[in-house]
Amino acid sequence: MIKNICCIGAGYVGGPSMAVIALNCPEIMVNVVDINSQKIDEWNSSDFSKLPVFEPGLDNIIKKCRGKNLFFSTEVEKNISNAEVIFISVNTPTKTVGVGKGYASDLKWIESSARQISKFAKNHTIVIEKSTLPVRTAETIKNILDSSEEIADFGIKKVSKTFSIISNPEFLAEGSAINDLQNPDRVLIGGEDKKSIELVSNIYKNWVDPRKIITTNLWSSELSKLVANAFLAQRISSINSISALCELTGANINEVAIAIGTDKRIGNKFLNAGPGFGGSCFKKDILNLVYLCQYYGLPEVADYWEQIVKINSWQQERISSLVIKNLFGTLSNKKLAVLGFSFKANTNDTRESPSISIAKNLIKEGAELNFYDPKVNKEDILKEFQRKENEEKINVCETALIAAKGTDAVIVLTEWEQFNNLDWEYIFKLMRKPAWVFDSRNYLNTDQLKKIGFNVWSLGQS
Ligand code: UDX
Ligand code: UDX
Repeated sequence: MIKNICCIGAGYVGGPSMAVIALNCPEIMVNVVDINSQKIDEWNSSDFSKLPVFEPGLDNIIKKCRGKNLFFSTEVEKNISNAEVIFISVNTPTKTVGVGKGYASDLKWIESSARQISKFAKNHTIVIEKSTLPVRTAETIKNILDSSEEIADFGIKKVSKTFSIISNPEFLAEGSAINDLQNPDRVLIGGEDKKSIELVSNIYKNWVDPRKIITTNLWSSELSKLVANAFLAQRISSINSISALCELTGANINEVAIAIGTDKRIGNKFLNAGPGFGGSCFKKDILNLVYLCQYYGLPEVADYWEQIVKINSWQQERISSLVIKNLFGTLSNKKLAVLGFSFKANTNDTRESPSISIAKNLIKEGAELNFYDPKVNKEDILKEFQRKENEEKINVCETALIAAKGTDAVIVLTEWEQFNNLDWEYIFKLMRKPAWVFDSRNYLNTDQLKKIGFNVWSLGQS
């Protein structure tokens, strides 16, 4: 039985997934390590509102397990040495330079993690790919690990370590990470060595129904993660493309989504039209899939999947243009409130958030923007708009009401529940007239807003 786990990478994936393992497996020591010492300090903070990842329910688990069988530290070497199982949960961003730039994943952190494991691991170690990776990355990891022959002090070559590689991708969605981890639809474990697959399965069997544990070969597991994200993103681009058609034809996107979603073959999940998908995964993983298809000589397949990302950018451009058009074709000398900066509700994560690209488009048109988000802090908003000339055009506000004061329009870009419960009558009084509300998530009470006197634009409605 596994007794000691190490996870490299204390981010949105590593932190919550290890917390849930620690919660359900009190007899396993779980050490989460990260090179970022500030992040580790935040994980160790006595003030639970300072944890670096906001996820409903996560603080309670940290309270219960931290210091008992869950530890956060920067001691990478020591914890690798002690571990029987090592999860690699480091980031794998899209390459910005070199071969495959703009598409392929940058595996430099995976490589450096594998090198560290190769150097410091002892005996037999199961190395688990938790990060989403291109197919056949396990081969690269294996090559690095297998080169770890130790030279002992007295010069005798001793091969004292062995490794087994497992792919165990994470399917959690941010904002519902704890629930997704506690009650996963499935746990996917890919590998070649039956014994290691069984040992890893046994960890999950502490709380997951064994029927939900799917085992495959390494390559199927790696590819399935990319494909799952591509299919999910595809649904969003599909419904978003139809939202534009609804606006022009008198159809209502909510009604269309219900009408098609009741067909069991289609299903009713992931049919919310909006300002396009954000988050660290969808775009990166599709671009990675596109790169793989090109690499393997399948340009038609690559083009097919790339279109999902193109529609996503188009949706954001489209929303920006609609705001400008409705505000008499210009935003100079206009102040707008942007409500919501995280890429979805219930998270403080802003990576690839539609709010960033839409806000940038609005600033380009001359608008001054007042931002408000319930969970994203000021620095994280400001760092997206670093250019000097933008500084006086951006204000980050303490409340939605302060953000709305004196503006011509309120643009709702993240579906935080609290935006539905704002005192919209009061907000109307605070704004310059005509006062607009742009509901890019299509979830506010439009009738009520119209009754108050707002001009309302709601995505996917004419
Ligand atoms: C990331 C990827 O985005 C995702 O595709 C993958 O499936 C899992 O890893 P996430 O946890 O959201 O997801 O990333 P992030 O929050 O950036 O966390 C990664 C952490 O790894 C960072 O805290 C970083 O400091 C750490 N890291 C990176 C190391 O500890 N060592 C390294 O060598 C590199
Ligand atoms: C996603 C996958 O869901 C998860 O399985 C994987 O492990 C990581 O990537 P995440 O990005 O955290 O998770 O959140 P998700 O709920 O999938 O939302 C992604 C984006 O799509 C968000 O910007 C969200 O607002 C948007 N979205 C989602 C829609 O616009 N409409 C929908 O119906 C669903």
